[in-house]
Amino acid sequence: MASSFDPVAHNRSAWDREVESGNEWTRPVGPEVIARARAGDWSVVLIGYQPVPRDWFPAELAGAAVLCLASGGGQQGPVLSAVGAAVTVLDNSPRQLSRDREVGAREQLAVRTVLGDMRDLSAFTDASFDVVFNPVSNVFCPELAPVWLESFRVLRPGGILMAGFMNPDIFIFDVAALDERGELIVRHPLPFTTLDLPDDERERSYGTGPIEYSHSLTEQIGGQLAAGFVLTHLVEGPHHADATGRYMPGYFATRAVRP
Ligand SMILES: C[S@@+](CC[C@H](N)C(=O)[O-])C[C@H]1O[C@@H](n2cnc3c(N)ncnc32)[C@H](O)[C@@H]1O
Repeated sequence: MASSFDPVAHNRSAWDREVESGNEWTRPVGPEVIARARAGDWSVVLIGYQPVPRDWFPAELAGAAVLCLASGGGQQGPVLSAVGAAVTVLDNSPRQLSRDREVGAREQLAVRTVLGDMRDLSAFTDASFDVVFNPVSNVFCPELAPVWLESFRVLRPGGILMAGFMNPDIFIFDVAALDERGELIVRHPLPFTTLDLPDDERERSYGTGPIEYSHSLTEQIGGQLAAGFVLTHLVEGPHHADATGRYMPGYFATRAVRP
């Protein structure tokens, strides 16, 4: 790929295409999910299909200012809005944000949407949120330190950062062998990005999908700590849709607090 390649611009169009093609993380929640949430029966995911433990959230969500970070698709944002939170969804894909607005209009929920890059939260003032909720999405972001620093800045003291992310080890395998034959062939040293692949191979394995970055645990967990967060919880889970799920955790989820 050319050296002038802009991953954010590429991934913006790529995620808009994912909406067109019906990727499961672009399908908005239905009216029954919102009705149940309004009645107090709700859950949201950070990784795969694993509900986030209720006690990761503040005891009182009504009125809490929640930033759903890189979390478009009409999923977590509308559910948290239905339980009373004041929700803002920031995402890099206009089509993903339109999903949140669709659900908001259908359900008369005030979900605010902001188009942007998760590394730059300058649309928001310091200490303006109680929760930053960031489901698996930083795999599409070239660098993480600004994400954690900006999340820290926009959270109030005592505010909570929840993040879901990929186990970087999942990237060591040959993707075509894994997808086509279920074979785990170790091939790529870490760190890895799909930009490392020759164009024809990337297109064969990833189509015109978004560019991905492996990111180390130092960038993920060390980066949160370096930004000033205190880690309170960490869980792991198998990748819900990957052959590696039989052997290893494909995802991690963390909860951290701004002191
Ligand atoms: C797998 S989807 C996650 C949203 C989904 N609601 C979920 O439950 O996981 C990944 C999202 O990250 C967004 N994204 C990718 N790169 C981004 C960036 N640099 N800044 C903000 N959002 C980004 C995509 O547009 C997409 O909506």
